[in-house]
Amino acid sequence: MNLQQRVIEAFEQQFGERPSTIIRAPGRVNLIGEHTDYNDGFVLPMAIDRAVWLALRPRGDGRIHATSLEQTEPVDFALADIQHSGGWGEYVKGMAKMLLDSGHDLAGWESILTSDVPVGSGLSSSAALEMAVGCAFAVVSGFPFDGNQMARFGQRTENEWVGANTGIMDQMISANGQAGYALLIDCRDLATQPIPLPSGTAVLIMDTMTRHSHTESGYNERRQQCEAAAAYFEVSALRYVSITEFLAHETELELPIRKRARHVVTENLRTLNAVKAMRNNDAPLLGQLMNESHASLRDDFEVTNDELDIMARTAQAQPGCYGARMTGGGFGGCAVALVQADLMHDVAAAVATQYEAATGLKPQIFSTSAAAGTAVIQD
Ligand code: GLA
Repeated sequence: MNLQQRVIEAFEQQFGERPSTIIRAPGRVNLIGEHTDYNDGFVLPMAIDRAVWLALRPRGDGRIHATSLEQTEPVDFALADIQHSGGWGEYVKGMAKMLLDSGHDLAGWESILTSDVPVGSGLSSSAALEMAVGCAFAVVSGFPFDGNQMARFGQRTENEWVGANTGIMDQMISANGQAGYALLIDCRDLATQPIPLPSGTAVLIMDTMTRHSHTESGYNERRQQCEAAAAYFEVSALRYVSITEFLAHETELELPIRKRARHVVTENLRTLNAVKAMRNNDAPLLGQLMNESHASLRDDFEVTNDELDIMARTAQAQPGCYGARMTGGGFGGCAVALVQADLMHDVAAAVATQYEAATGLKPQIFSTSAAAGTAVIQD
């Protein structure tokens, strides 16, 4: 049974009728452009086959009730009285709060959710949940789902309600993904351009099975360090520092600020070069840029862990692999590889065996196509 069928069946069991709306909101994998989004920079993610599914019906009493097939505790609250309570419900409450605070008139709903985006794996399970919830509010309350605007509410949920100082990439791609394309996002103004993958390539997601938490990891600290570097250059964000300017002044910056800035400045360049490589159908160059991105995240930004380094290195060594790197915030989670489509299974099998031998952990490795963004699904 697929997730769509599962969520409908569970809904029928709980509520005795079919849901009035079914929503799919995808997770994402970032091909390149890591830790650049909150520096007003460039990112190049794609939405993936894995997603949050939400089946709902409206309710007239201004309450939200949501049961997740993966979580023990349901979420239940009144829109008129939103309080923190911890757990996965924070993302639901945060979205409600941000939409209400910005003047939206919200109606209640009750729902069943299910998801196959692994939590804390760097594939944006929380952004997918936020976009599913945002879409639910839009449908039930009768306002349009505007992808960029909803992404901003998702980011505010993370920043203002959950306490994770994340950027806007994950919500943007979950909201606006396009089937068959990665999306170049300019995080300064949220302009997007669809970019096709090189022909004959496939994307592998390789889960190290180690996990992060952005509220507890070094994520917020990295962000502060980037702000300190931008302040030194007297600009509002590192996006506005060119490589020439950086090289002229880098020795004046203290460590580790210098290394953090070097990562962001060079990563923005790599991302724009990756777009050119994709437009030229140049898989080897795209792969090389991904490898360089990993090295920069490991040595300068210092957000990898041993398992991510082993995973990336193991993948990079396989015939048929153009390049591999960690993806997402880091400190655990997944790596991504660009591989020759006809050798995809060989690469996946070899990486799985060698990674397990090196770490004792059994990785999850799966391929994904570039999927569509958040939408109401007609069943
Ligand atoms: C997390 C954040 C994003 C982004 C990435 C790193 O996924 O949610 O905003 O900063 O880390 O690129």
